Formats: sequence, C-alpha cells, structure tokens
Amino acid sequence: MGSPLHFQIRIVNNNLKTNKMKENQKSEQGSNNSSSSKRQRDGNKSNPDEKQGLRDLLIDELEHIYWGEKELTKAIPKMIENATSEELIDALTGHLKVTKEHVTRLEKAFSSLNEKAEAMKCASMEGLIKEAEGIMAETKEGTVRDAGIISAGQKVEHYEIATYSSLCSFAKTLGEDSVASLLQETLDEENEANEKLSEIAESMQLEMAV
Ligand SMILES: [Fe+2]
Ligand SMILES: [Fe+2]
Repeated sequence: MGSPLHFQIRIVNNNLKTNKMKENQKSEQGSNNSSSSKRQRDGNKSNPDEKQGLRDLLIDELEHIYWGEKELTKAIPKMIENATSEELIDALTGHLKVTKEHVTRLEKAFSSLNEKAEAMKCASMEGLIKEAEGIMAETKEGTVRDAGIISAGQKVEHYEIATYSSLCSFAKTLGEDSVASLLQETLDEENEANEKLSEIAESMQLEMAV
C-alpha cells in the first residue's frame, strides 16, 4: 500500500482490466437485446473491485496531500518572512494556523479509514513550493515580491482545492461520510484562503494604479 510503484501497478492492472472489459464487450456485440439490457443492469450495480480501487486511490491521494500539508507548515513561515504587506502577513499567518489543522484533520481521516497516517512525497506540491522559493529569491523585497508570494500562494490553494474536491467526492462515493465532512471543512478553508489572497492582490493593484 502506498508506494508510487504499487500505485502504478494498480493503474496498470486497472487498465488491463478495462481493456479486457472492452474486448469482452466487443465480442458480445451482436448478441440479442435481452442480454444487452442485462449487461446494462449489471453495469449499474456497484462493482467491489472498483470500490476497492477507489478506496486505494483515496488513500494514495491522502498520503500525498498529507505530505504536501506538512511541507506547507515549513514553507508558509518563509513566505511570511519575505512578505512586507501587513494584510498579506496576516493572511499567511492565519493560513499557517489552519494548515496545521489540515495536517491534524488528515490524521483523523486516516484513522477513520483504519489506515496509518503515512506521508508520500508529492511532486506537484514540491514543484509549487520550489516555484514560491524561486520567486522570493529572484524578486526585490516589497510590492513585487508580495505580488509573487500571492501568485505562488494562490497556485498552492488551487492545487489544494482541486485535490480536496476530488477526495471529498471519492469519500462520499465510498460512503465514508465522516471522512468527506473532514475534507469538506478543509476545502472550505482553502477556498477562503484563495479568496483572501485575491482580495489582497486586487487592493495592491489598486494602490499601484493610483
Ligand atoms: Fe491546506
Ligand atoms: Fe492552503
């Protein structure tokens, strides 16, 4: 469970299964209408293999975002140190606090799924954090660096919003309602952070335009 290799193997197996299913469907083409409608009925039933596959995918993705949130608890303080706008510093400080709660909430989600909380390196989040560090290194302190921090921060929030939206829907599909509500709570906070950063960016643009 959990390693990228295992994940790839599962995907390959699923693709093989899908191809096999397609082949079977092709070979069944031309059969009578009653068997066709029976297949449709069977297709609507919940498939235990698919359910297990979706659960595995949910856990893999939780392990990646768990790694990402933990890394963000180290990256956000660097963004705070580099920011100069009071409003931006306040927003980042507030989001650092909730990001620590996101880590705890993910641990609760693992526990609710009877899984050990394991962090799996997330290449996407690693890239987004590196981009933020690059922007901070390459810009002059002040409004331009603040604008860069907002832009990098919003990319992180958008990634988190996409991740938590998908994971929330996976959890609902699997009937894991308590996990879904934990993820929804975090999703709401990521949306709030993104909106706050948009507001700060707009007010900075207005100031610069004056
Ligand atoms: Fe988060
Ligand atoms: Fe966030």
